[in-house]
Amino acid sequence: MSSQGLFIVLEGIDGSGTTTQVRRLHQRLVSEGFQARSTREPSDGPIGLLLRQMLSGEPHWTRWSTMALLFAADRSHHVESEIEPWLAQGAIVLSDRYDASSLAYQSATSSDEADALGWICELNRHVRRPDLTLVLDVDADVASARRAERGEPAQLYERMELQQKLAVFYRDLARWMPNDRIVRIDGQGTVEEVEARVYEVVVKLAARVRSEAT
Ligand code: TYD
Repeated sequence: MSSQGLFIVLEGIDGSGTTTQVRRLHQRLVSEGFQARSTREPSDGPIGLLLRQMLSGEPHWTRWSTMALLFAADRSHHVESEIEPWLAQGAIVLSDRYDASSLAYQSATSSDEADALGWICELNRHVRRPDLTLVLDVDADVASARRAERGEPAQLYERMELQQKLAVFYRDLARWMPNDRIVRIDGQGTVEEVEARVYEVVVKLAARVRSEAT
C-alpha cells in the first residue's frame, strides 16, 4: 500500500451515525483486505479524556473559546500520536469527527459566528487535511429520536435548537472548507443503507490507494 495512506473523516450532528458508520466501514475495509485503522475525536489521549468529562458536565467551564482551544490541542496531539504514524504505515485512517466539528459546534455556540469561524480555522491551520470528509446528513428530529432510543444522558451540545442550527451548517460545510474534498451522504434510512452509501464513495478512493501499492 502507498506510504501516504488515506485519511477519511466522518462528520455530522449528534445521532447522525458517525460512530456506527466508522465502525462498520472499518470492519468492511479490513474484511476486503485493506489496512485500516479507526479513531475518534475527542481522542483517547489526555486532552480528549478531559474533553469527554466536560461534555458530560464536569467541570462546568465550557465557554466556546475554551472548548475551541482544547479541541484544537487535542487534535494536534491526536494527529501527531496516531493519525500521522498510521498514515505513514500506509493505512486507511478513519476518524469519527475532526476539525469540521470544531467549526460547527464552537462557532454555533459563540456570540459572533463569523468571527469565531475565522479564529477556529486559524487554530487548526497546521493540522493535516483529510483526503475525504463525509458528512452524514440527518434531520435534527431524526437524530434526536435516535439519541432518545440510545437512552444515554444528554451531553453538552444535545439541545434541539442547537442541533437544528448544526444540521444547517453541515449542509453548507464546503463553504468553510473550500479546499477540502467533502461529500454529503444521506444519513437517513437503515444502518445498512447508509453503510452502502458510505462504502460506495470510500471504495473508489481506497481502490486508488491499493493500485498505487501494487
Ligand atoms: P460524540 O461524537 O457524539 O461522541 P460520543 O458518541 O462518545 O458521545 O460526541 C462528541 C461531542 O463533541 C459532539 O457533541 C461534538 C462535540 N465536538 C465539538 O464540539 N468540537 C469538536 O471539535 C469535536 C471533535 C467534537
